[in-house]
Amino acid sequence: MSLDPYNLRKDFPILSQTMPNGKELVYLDNGATSQKPLSVIQATNDYYVKENANIHRGVYYLSQHATELFERTRIKTSHFFQAQCAKAIIFTRGTTDAINLVAQTYGRTNVSEGDEIVLSVQEHHSNLVPWQMLAREKKAFLKFIPILDDTTYDLSKLNEIITKRTKIVAISQMSNVTGTIHDLTKIIDRARQVGAKVLVDGAQAACHMPIHLVDMDVDFYAFSAHKMLGPTGVGVLFGKEEILEAMPPWLGGGDMIESVELESSTYAALPAKLEAGTPNIAGVIGFSHALDYLQKVGMKNIKEHERMLTEYALERMQKIGGLTIFGTEDLEKRGGVVSFTMEGIHPHDVGSILDEEGVAIRVGHHCCQPLMKQLQIPGTCRASFYLYNTKEDIDVLVHSIEKVKSIFGRVVRK
Ligand code: ALA
Repeated sequence: MSLDPYNLRKDFPILSQTMPNGKELVYLDNGATSQKPLSVIQATNDYYVKENANIHRGVYYLSQHATELFERTRIKTSHFFQAQCAKAIIFTRGTTDAINLVAQTYGRTNVSEGDEIVLSVQEHHSNLVPWQMLAREKKAFLKFIPILDDTTYDLSKLNEIITKRTKIVAISQMSNVTGTIHDLTKIIDRARQVGAKVLVDGAQAACHMPIHLVDMDVDFYAFSAHKMLGPTGVGVLFGKEEILEAMPPWLGGGDMIESVELESSTYAALPAKLEAGTPNIAGVIGFSHALDYLQKVGMKNIKEHERMLTEYALERMQKIGGLTIFGTEDLEKRGGVVSFTMEGIHPHDVGSILDEEGVAIRVGHHCCQPLMKQLQIPGTCRASFYLYNTKEDIDVLVHSIEKVKSIFGRVVRK
């Protein structure tokens, strides 16, 4: 059964908004963050109106109820992503927080001078900078998997890149710039051969396709709730239980301890050991409703819908002269992202004119400066789709791009 975006849109109040200039909103910046359905907004609101209490601390009803809602979300998350068990789900502030946690605990414990950390050249800064910091501290080396012209990973020299010295391979499943979906099987297999651990940055993938963590056989998987209809400030780190068990905590404080003396402490069992301090309780409860919503729509349907939109967008945009579109043409390897540049027009100018038409896209380097350098461009214009986008949204995008062309054509002729 396919999804009906026109029906789904009714659940997202923001989408029926008119912008201050009178234009209807066409929201195509889902790679940055998704919009939220009413059920998520209401659940978050209800928590503050009726359920607010701190978790894991109270003997009274409200605290126990909030704890139950929070912990039920952990179980729901582990089922949704087919994780090993609920203890393997660590709530964080987002993907960035999750990757830093691994770098600062697993990484600092297991990476030594001369070791290698393998990334790719198209990683988001969130999956680059934490490893740069670790490598500098430990005098370890960073190595990079290159990309081919079609922006898929170039695996021809994989055995030279991932070696016996490799301790961690940290790699994204889907590019936030090009939308390329990477088949990670060979990378994971090679990491297994040499005994390296694999962290997958799933920030762009987890929200758009079914994910089966046990089948993927990754050691760590990180993603954010806000890109999948949930609130901001909530992320998930999945880690294999035995690896998380062996990891020291990162942040110290309340909730992560077993007992504390003035000079030393012992730590709580998983998952509390890695969740110091009061978490974003309202956000996690909201995320639970986001998962319910996605479950009802079906991740397979979402993937197919985005594929249809991407095919339609590529077909229409390829007919506009002067556009360079990035990423693979193979729709099997591409998510709902279309990044493009317009000949002789800066992406920021494109973004501003599209904004005048009510079209929200992201422009710039998309937190991927090394990839921009490789592509020899300062930035791109990026339209990114989700379950509530329609072909009409793409028609407005195309019409607005044509308007950009005509405005700049006029400027040039003057
Ligand atoms: N990583 C997000 C993006 O690509 C913010 O826009």
